[in-house]
Amino acid sequence: MTRKPLIAGNWKMNGSLAESRQLVDALRAGITAGGAAAATMLLCPPFVYLPAVQGWLQGSPIALGAQDLADKPGSGAYTGEVSGQMLREVGCSHVIVGHSERRALYGETDAVVAAKFKAAQAAGLVPIVCVGETLEQREAGQTRSVISAQVAAVVDSAGVQAFSKAVIAYEPVWAIGTGRTATPDQAQEVHAFIRGMVAARDATIAAGLRVLYGGSVKGANARSLFAMADIDGGLVGGASLTAAEFLEIFRAAA
Ligand code: 13P
Repeated sequence: MTRKPLIAGNWKMNGSLAESRQLVDALRAGITAGGAAAATMLLCPPFVYLPAVQGWLQGSPIALGAQDLADKPGSGAYTGEVSGQMLREVGCSHVIVGHSERRALYGETDAVVAAKFKAAQAAGLVPIVCVGETLEQREAGQTRSVISAQVAAVVDSAGVQAFSKAVIAYEPVWAIGTGRTATPDQAQEVHAFIRGMVAARDATIAAGLRVLYGGSVKGANARSLFAMADIDGGLVGGASLTAAEFLEIFRAAA
């Protein structure tokens, strides 16, 4: 694989400051130089823990990211929002945009997701843009049309060149937090479809693009998922909250 795998932990709204410290310390202790050379580990804690986690990560190869950002570039009167520039300031290199929970629970449209993607890049962050179909959509045979619309909304708005500094995460909604993982073949099919969409616009960018899988990734299923040609790592929720489990997933990629 020419693409260095990325294993990202999306903590979501979980953990206390003390638990976060324990988790970070255990991950630091568990990651080896060889592992860090072979794959990138990224932690995405809640906003308020970012400065603390940045401090605990000093001198480690583990990267820091955020779970969301404002759709507006720069600064201004946007109560409650956090800008990409602020995330950079506290040491983030990456940011998740368009997670299905943001889309479903907080009404984020494709247009908002595209705006966040551009705001992230304007601030020098690598956006990890999430796409994925619901169970109803899959059962209705709409997986490709849903993914196609979600990917196109960002590619058409930001331009394909923007994907030389971006990551896509395929997260089937039915597999998130359900214990029901897409099979490696099911995931690979969608990953190849996503890469093909980007390749139709720019083959070189598509070849270098990391496409992560997310949805009930565990130590036990990570290896078979990461063995697929177009799966370049994982976006991990629940299993990223346990150091031993997350390290096992990381080792499956590294
Ligand atoms: P789980 O790994 O808990 O299924 O969550 C996946 C996810 O949503 C990561 O962003």
